[in-house]
Amino acid sequence: MSKVTVVGAGFVGSTVAQYVAEKDLADVVLIDIPNLEGVAQGKALDLMQAAPISGWHSRSLIGTSDYAHSKDSDIVVITAGIARKPGMTREDLLRTNAKIVKEVAEKAVKQSPNAIFIVVTNPLDVMTYLVQETTKLDSTRVIGMAGVLDSARFQAFIGMELNVSCQDVRAMVLGGHGDLMVPLPRYSSVNGIPITELISKERIEALSARTRDGGAEIVKLLGTGSAYYAPGSSVSQMVEAILLDKNRLLPCAVLPTKGEYGLKDVYIGLPAVLNRKGLDKIVELKLTDDESAMLKKSADSIKENIKLMNELLAAAV
Ligand code: NAI
Ligand code: 2OP
Repeated sequence: MSKVTVVGAGFVGSTVAQYVAEKDLADVVLIDIPNLEGVAQGKALDLMQAAPISGWHSRSLIGTSDYAHSKDSDIVVITAGIARKPGMTREDLLRTNAKIVKEVAEKAVKQSPNAIFIVVTNPLDVMTYLVQETTKLDSTRVIGMAGVLDSARFQAFIGMELNVSCQDVRAMVLGGHGDLMVPLPRYSSVNGIPITELISKERIEALSARTRDGGAEIVKLLGTGSAYYAPGSSVSQMVEAILLDKNRLLPCAVLPTKGEYGLKDVYIGLPAVLNRKGLDKIVELKLTDDESAMLKKSADSIKENIKLMNELLAAAV
């Protein structure tokens, strides 16, 4: 059985653990801070007791605050950190989560130097960059989750609009995980029929806007906290693609080391093929001038945040 460590036993982390276990993908280690070790243990035990009912076989599901338990993980998923709360500035979120994610990455890579890291903590693209910088792993082994989620939201909205099963809808959203993400209607379809043949330009624009605001819409409805079912499911799809060596083409936050899309030195959502190596390759699509300009604007904004994060981390030393 493969081994997946999930750091952060909160809403997203425990949902990742649930989906990974239910899909029989791996044994799971759920890690949280010492003060919340009981919570991690309680969630792991509760999940274990669902196994006989749901019929999955993961042999081991443990909660802990001790990274020794994560030794030799195949995949480490980082969900540790906080979500942005009302009144909190972008700098506050960056400062807090950068500190947490750096510490988590250092501890986790010590135990599992051959693992593939999937980063979830926000701001996503910047945190993924930080994990790669901190672990010094090859960038093919450090991948951020956001594109799968943003594309799933777009797919759900397209299915709702056309009253067709979202199973038949494929969609691609690139760029950073934020207001500047880049939904690509030209590369979205219902069983091969481009959505541009099925939905008016105005409605596609409205669905794209709802996708861009997808996270905020849920935050507003929940009142406290942010989405976790679709994020957890998105991570489990990436875990599955990697552990089962599936060569799946999924939009993920990756580092374009060969100057793909004219980009470099920035983690950003691009179409990526995932397999047992982690990132196998980035697929270059032909973009229109408008789409390229949107992707560049998104990359520039992530780069600004990387710069800000580096300043904040340097000031904290
Ligand atoms: P949560 O608050 O429910 O869980 C976070 C957990 O991290 C808490 O249990 C906390 O104790 C733990 N934690 C904090 N510091 C830690 C440390 N040093 N070591 C280990 N654990 C630590 O939050 P939730 O809803 O699970 O979200 C987690 C993060 O994921 C947030 O930053 C959120 O914005 C982000 N997120 C990203 C998405 C994406 O698409 N990339 C989607 C959804 C959430
Ligand atoms: C989301 O998109 C908050 O990033 C999180 O739901």
